[in-house]
Amino acid sequence: MKFSSILFLSSTFKAASSFAVASPAKSSATGGAGVHRPVGKDGEGAYTASTKGCFDVIATATPLVVKEIENQPIRGFGSPAFHIADYGTADAGTSLGLMSQMVTEVRKRVGDDKKEIVLHYEDQVTNEWQSVFNHALGLKTVSDAYGKEIPNPYALNDVFVEACGVGFHNQCYASNTIDFGVSFTAMHWLSQFPSSLKGQEYMHAARCPESPIPEKEQAAKDWKSILEARAKELVPGGRFVCVNFCKDANGYFLGQTDVGESMWDSFKTAWDQLKEQNLIDEEERLGVSFPNYYRTEQEFRECVDSVKGLKVVSSEEKIVRCPYRELYVTGESGKTPREYAEWFVPTTRSWSHSTFKSALKTDRDEEDKEKVMATFWENYMKIVEKNPEAHGMDYVHNYIVFEKEE
Ligand SMILES: C[S@@+](CC[C@H](N)C(=O)[O-])C[C@H]1O[C@@H](n2cnc3c(N)ncnc32)[C@H](O)[C@@H]1O
Repeated sequence: MKFSSILFLSSTFKAASSFAVASPAKSSATGGAGVHRPVGKDGEGAYTASTKGCFDVIATATPLVVKEIENQPIRGFGSPAFHIADYGTADAGTSLGLMSQMVTEVRKRVGDDKKEIVLHYEDQVTNEWQSVFNHALGLKTVSDAYGKEIPNPYALNDVFVEACGVGFHNQCYASNTIDFGVSFTAMHWLSQFPSSLKGQEYMHAARCPESPIPEKEQAAKDWKSILEARAKELVPGGRFVCVNFCKDANGYFLGQTDVGESMWDSFKTAWDQLKEQNLIDEEERLGVSFPNYYRTEQEFRECVDSVKGLKVVSSEEKIVRCPYRELYVTGESGKTPREYAEWFVPTTRSWSHSTFKSALKTDRDEEDKEKVMATFWENYMKIVEKNPEAHGMDYVHNYIVFEKEE
């Protein structure tokens, strides 16, 4: 059997889920599966609960999305439903407010408050899909970093929810079917593990004085595949707003900006301490190599011209400050240094835990690995609690708007 995607479909609380799976080894449809593994158990929604900064990143992109809905040609009265795809959605919690706003904006634009809208949630096969439905169907409420409850798009009626586990390096939807694509903080994950930093001190390509060739080349290849797939999926005149981690003009990137300590330096110190604590050996100490890449403006732009039918409307680099640190510094969080460490560190853990863990030798059992990891996160929290104001995870993104030519 050739086709091996998992496709979940759900449009009502009682809707049936259908999925077809063949051997992943025989298919490219699970591209990148396992490169990023969710924290927590499926259904817990640990991602949304612990990554409050992503709400701010999406809020920063919202005016761009609204502007494009105002400008794009919309298939009008009597046309098919308006299809929105959120690529690399995780548990669908962080984009929930944007989805509600997009539904409202599209309906306003066509003057039809019953215009049918389909929300397509896309992520890897290994995603926390139960949480996607909990959030998207309003079975579990979601709050942002400031405790504000997020409105649910499903409650707006005539909204249909579907999910796809193909992986965004592949074409996920039929050609000319998606009116508006969005993706936040996801497409830095590579489709494969170049792992070229194993045996070195850097851990991440962005920290190397020169970008390592295997990661750089994989990132270029993946970006081309991503854009070619979106160019097929979008309807003519459709838009794709892609908000991606980047290495900006100042050389800043996630967790390493003009404010505070580098999160990566702290990771390194906390990881190295494991060796001093006799918990890992030298091979494991140097075994961390993140399978993701923060592209520069030039790297984002480089292959666009070779992708037929897609043009860049705008691109802009922006820093979103770490909301945890901001709330701590202003005193609004009311937390002690230790409480701050316990509150902030999980946001760094939500995306990095599986990569750090994969540096541990395969002959260790799961319990042993998790014990080592618990000490690693405790080491990091101890660093943070000594000087909380200096520790945060600023987000550095390139906000790129694409249009599919008509
Ligand atoms: C940091 S989360 C971002 C989630 C959400 N978009 C947000 O902004 O809060 C990155 C997501 O990208 C997903 N991802 C990584 N590689 C992927 C792939 N090849 N295809 C689809 N999703 C992928 C991960 O599973 C994860 O859910």
